[in-house]
Amino acid sequence: MYDIPHRPRRNRQSAAVRDLVRETHLTPGHLIMPLFVMDGHGIKQEIASMPGVFRMTEEFVLEEVAACMAVGVRSFVLFPVVEDALKTPNGAYGVDPTNFYFRIAKAIKVAFPESMLMSDVALDPYSSDGHDGLVVDGEILNDETLPLLEAQAVAQAEAGFDFIGPSDMMDGRVGAIREALDDAGLTGTGILAYSAKYASAFYGPFRDALESAPKSGDKQTYQMDPANRVEALREAELDAAEGADMLMVKPALCYLDVIYELSVNLDLPIAAYNVSGEYAMLKAAAAKGWIDYDRAMPEMLTSIHRAGASVILTYFAREYAERYQAGTL
Ligand code: PBG
Repeated sequence: MYDIPHRPRRNRQSAAVRDLVRETHLTPGHLIMPLFVMDGHGIKQEIASMPGVFRMTEEFVLEEVAACMAVGVRSFVLFPVVEDALKTPNGAYGVDPTNFYFRIAKAIKVAFPESMLMSDVALDPYSSDGHDGLVVDGEILNDETLPLLEAQAVAQAEAGFDFIGPSDMMDGRVGAIREALDDAGLTGTGILAYSAKYASAFYGPFRDALESAPKSGDKQTYQMDPANRVEALREAELDAAEGADMLMVKPALCYLDVIYELSVNLDLPIAAYNVSGEYAMLKAAAAKGWIDYDRAMPEMLTSIHRAGASVILTYFAREYAERYQAGTL
């Protein structure tokens, strides 16, 4: 009989031993909860393709933040749901001082000064074209969009956002925003760069949530080709050189190799965005009884952390943290 010299199973023999040798520990402190915020009062609408995720007005946003804080999720990224009537080609509402986005951020910081708020800097929530840049004669302009984004970032930082999240994936964003923040004396405001954001089908439910799908064309001239890995490294190096504080890969699950690549090659914290389509897929399979949701959800998040992301943006944040606290993961 073969005399087996090595027996890795010894280290899996009991829960106690498995606890001793576990390599990855994902705690609620690593998670950022995305919130879809809207103007008005008393509205909490579930997003059809994202069961359990809501568009909310201020009072419900504060309730959600309180519930997350109670289980150790202290970081939030806010996305504004802007009504069509306020959308224009240059997205002027994004810097309007009466914008509800600023009002809600301020309200959260007043109620929860110890929270961490991250913004979304992009034109698409406010643009009548649904693109992330200015569109002129069908072309999405790079440099001409910069002053609009700089103004958005400064206004957001002044409203109390701790980190700015430029999400449009065009060139020169991080450097321009860093300079604009510094010139405004906002040297303490961080930048989480969407360094490797792919032109992905997995953003579909998010665009439903914001009604922000492009009116024509797609985003392939600015978001990355899903086939590329080396290019992600270049994007990340550029953002690091331009002054980013953290670097993001988005989506997460189809891009675990990219997360790993960045985490071993750059000396900045790596974030990953477990996007709307990844959430929707799991919820849908669970609703059909086709997958064991209770096990699959933490497995997903743990894999992202194991790949090298210390920061994870995920719609599962509150649920994961509740189970972490209750000891039912
Ligand atoms: C664009 C933006 C998108 C997401 C976050 N910011 C969508 C897009 O690029 O069209 C997607 C997030 C998700 O799918 O959960 N400003």
